[in-house]
Amino acid sequence: MAHQHHQHHHAHHHHQAPAAATKFDINTSYAMNSGHKIPALGYGVYQTPAADCEAVVLHAFKTGYRHVDSARAYRNEQPCADAIRASGLKREEIFFTSKVPPRAMGYEETKKAIESSFFQTGLDYIDLYLIHAPYGGKEARCGSWRALAEAQKQGRICSIGVSNYGVHHLDELEDYIKTSGVGGTIDVGQWEIHPWLPRNDIVEWAKGRNVVVEAYCPIVRGERAEEPVLKSLSKKHGKTWAQVLLRWSLQKGYVPLPKSVTPTRIEQNADIYDFELDQEDMESLDMPNSYAPCSWDPTTSHE
Ligand SMILES: NC(=O)c1ccc[n+]([C@@H]2O[C@H](COP(=O)([O-])OP(=O)(O)OC[C@H]3O[C@@H](n4cnc5c(N)ncnc54)[C@H](OP(=O)(O)O)[C@@H]3O)[C@@H](O)[C@H]2O)c1
Repeated sequence: MAHQHHQHHHAHHHHQAPAAATKFDINTSYAMNSGHKIPALGYGVYQTPAADCEAVVLHAFKTGYRHVDSARAYRNEQPCADAIRASGLKREEIFFTSKVPPRAMGYEETKKAIESSFFQTGLDYIDLYLIHAPYGGKEARCGSWRALAEAQKQGRICSIGVSNYGVHHLDELEDYIKTSGVGGTIDVGQWEIHPWLPRNDIVEWAKGRNVVVEAYCPIVRGERAEEPVLKSLSKKHGKTWAQVLLRWSLQKGYVPLPKSVTPTRIEQNADIYDFELDQEDMESLDMPNSYAPCSWDPTTSHE
């Protein structure tokens, strides 16, 4: 927001708040091609047991997260929605994502998956729905997209996108949207992204089209905690290796989706707005030729 610089000082002058340490804060969001906004920090719930899920999502909301990344495959959409209702926050203050499971690819199956998400969550609308992975062949991928585009047109799903798509899948989808007339905007892409898997080809494709890039496994599931580069940046900034990795992701312009069921870690992973990696720090994490997934990697699939 623009603020005025007064020429003279008043007796009870209110000082400006100290300049924010960085250009990000926990409420930073990005505008998507759909016209909607997405919070720049997400909270992942893959492998979060359904029985614990409502409580940990509520803790995330209390900590300040406003974005939950679920999926049909995670079997915890319902407790996520229960947490949204129990939070006391307005529905529109929260951003909720689900995904088409690989076994529900194709137009009819994806329509059913979407219906099941609405039935299980009881939500009136879903903020973001992604195709979880590019499996099933071209016809199935395009059919799933058509189902998402229809739901977006109806306003039931605000924004749509893909996960784990390689550049060849993205090109196929872009061509389908241009030639089929089914519509739909590619609002978001979600991929495993961290310094050991930077995916610069995919990121370049996405950035050129204003597709918001979500980064899953942003802290590499803890597998890189002992890397010397993280030890040194951790010491330099007085932050943990996980916070350094999340900060890297934010500063790259991505939407990191850290997962934790541990309250102190949920808090730690959101406490990333009081320091900044400088250019040299960022370059020390630049490994353009590294390709080391810690999760599955459907981007290379050619079915
Ligand atoms: N689209 C896809 O195909 C796909 C695939 C994978 C993940 N995702 C999404 O991305 C989210 C994150 O990915 P992820 O869960 O696989 O990996 P991650 O967030 O990189 O790592 C999660 C692991 O790190 C631990 N952890 C969390 N914070 C920590 C901290 N501050 N210090 C030390 N350890 C910490 C967690 O343990 P505790 O929970 O025990 O604290 C958990 O074992 C998922 O939940 C899901 O929403 C999407």
